[in-house]
Amino acid sequence: MAISSSFPFLPFFLVLSASTVYANGCYTSIISFGDSLADTGNLKQLVVKSNGRPPHFLYLPYGETFFHKPTGRCSNGRLIIDFIAENLGMPLVPPYESVKSNMNVMERGQGVNFAVAGATALDSSFHEAQGVYNPYTNASLGVQLEWFKHSLPALCRTPADCKNWLKRSLILMGEIGGNDYNHAVIAGKPIEELESYVPLVINTIISTITELIELGAETFVVPGNLPIGCSAAYLTIYYGAKKEEYDNATGCLIELNKFAEYHNELLQTELNRIRELHPNVNVIYADYYNAAMQFFRSPEKYGFTNGALTACCGGGGPYNYNQSVACAYPSSTTCSQPDTYANWDGLHLTEVAYQVIYKSLFHGMYTTPQFNSVCSMSMIQAKDALSSPVQSF
Ligand SMILES: *[C@@H]1O[C@H](CO)[C@@H](O)[C@H](O)[C@H]1NC(C)=O
Ligand SMILES: *[C@@H]1O[C@H](CO)[C@@H](O)[C@H](O)[C@H]1NC(C)=O
Ligand SMILES: *[C@@H]1O[C@H](CO)[C@@H](O)[C@H](O)[C@H]1NC(C)=O
Repeated sequence: MAISSSFPFLPFFLVLSASTVYANGCYTSIISFGDSLADTGNLKQLVVKSNGRPPHFLYLPYGETFFHKPTGRCSNGRLIIDFIAENLGMPLVPPYESVKSNMNVMERGQGVNFAVAGATALDSSFHEAQGVYNPYTNASLGVQLEWFKHSLPALCRTPADCKNWLKRSLILMGEIGGNDYNHAVIAGKPIEELESYVPLVINTIISTITELIELGAETFVVPGNLPIGCSAAYLTIYYGAKKEEYDNATGCLIELNKFAEYHNELLQTELNRIRELHPNVNVIYADYYNAAMQFFRSPEKYGFTNGALTACCGGGGPYNYNQSVACAYPSSTTCSQPDTYANWDGLHLTEVAYQVIYKSLFHGMYTTPQFNSVCSMSMIQAKDALSSPVQSF
């Protein structure tokens, strides 16, 4: 039954798989894990399937600028992952929840996105034990990895086949971990308590990468945390803090940015250990923090004439952010020119801000090692392997 019903799809599948080598020549697919910074529609699908109450970002003005409708992305347009796909000449990465029912006919090279808005790195049971409940999802990084492992047999038939496919895939590991801190702060936890979460969050990211390496993955882009002290949401929560708690140059909260830097330093230390243990694996750190700090320091230079701190869309207040009146609520307001704002809705950035980060990472200095060099290096290695019999010196 299964064989005969899948037969009509076979020629279709073959046609698709013939086109899986993309123009970039480096990667055949993108596989993504993370939260709202990378979710291209998973939470939307999960809510629809559970008949749950749609969260605010499933309504306009979300998506208004590029897609002209809400897609489940937490922005007015494209996210960093969309710019990566576009610039590698690949299709936008579809959410797992949209493609999981027909993985067997899915174009292998298309990739899959497991990121879910609101997701944490640590399992929901950890946060619940601290009294912090996640209103959006329990699809933590561990859950996303299980989804991935579960879908492998449909994506690639044999273990050898899977290893080959994964070897040529670009794994976007995050950003993840931001919500482990966000949700706790919103629940009223002091920053000192959050510091104890950091090693646990990093360990979870590292063990996920290690599992994927064991399955055959060889190229990872691992983003760090954004400067959360510059987000309209945190600036509102801590509104009225002492003058010395703000960075003169940006207006951002110093302690929260230091916290994000602490997360990023620990992450980089652990990524170095992976590089030592697996010298054949490309582990690329994506410095979201410093890429974004460029426009928090000089908003005008990037066209953010309304500043980088105030949200374009929100419920009013000094940074146009009000936790009880989210963007898209009837009494919220939306700016007329989102491109003149870096902050979209308090916690997320505008499409233009994400594009600045994308360019700084993949066409600039904010990846370690530099993204382009990794790509050409692995191609050179492949060429060397092919030509090695005639190389006599
Ligand atoms: C996550 O939530 C869903 C729906 O409420 C539930 O069915 C599932 O068992 C939960 N998973 C975990 C790992 O808690
Ligand atoms: C910030 O500005 C104030 C006065 O405008 C100054 O006293 C203080 O030293 C400055 N802080 C830093 C870190 O530059
Ligand atoms: C947020 O909105 C609510 C409802 O309109 C209002 O009562 C509250 O004062 C607002 N909070 C801030 C900080 O502006």
